[in-house]
Amino acid sequence: MNDRRDFLKTTAVAASLIALGPVRSSFAAGMAPKYTNIIFTKENPGVWKGKEALHVPHVTITGSKVKVVTNHPMSQQHYIVRHTLVLADGTSVGSETFTPTDKPESTYELPMGYKGIFYVTSFCNLHDFWMVETMV
Ligand SMILES: [Fe+2]
Repeated sequence: MNDRRDFLKTTAVAASLIALGPVRSSFAAGMAPKYTNIIFTKENPGVWKGKEALHVPHVTITGSKVKVVTNHPMSQQHYIVRHTLVLADGTSVGSETFTPTDKPESTYELPMGYKGIFYVTSFCNLHDFWMVETMV
């Protein structure tokens, strides 16, 4: 009898994880091909394949604080122009515009108690619009 209960529990957990899968990676897995060479991601770097390390924004979450860093050199000719953070429902949490002498780093405060997906973008003046999807 315990084997059957364990099997049912395991099956229920696996089904839940499968159901969550597409939600957690909806953009990267499902929508990205539609935006190939328009919105660039680690999974879909399009024409900029090989430039992911310098353009995909890195996200660090501490409580409700989100720090965004793009590991990209900054010069007058080539630099990160802007970061944004947008919630899954389209709410814009914030943005930061950079000059070539700035560090491409920004911080944001998620709404109190927010749980779910959010998107962080990083725009390079030469290598376009990069995005990462994150779950809290
Ligand atoms: Fe770049």
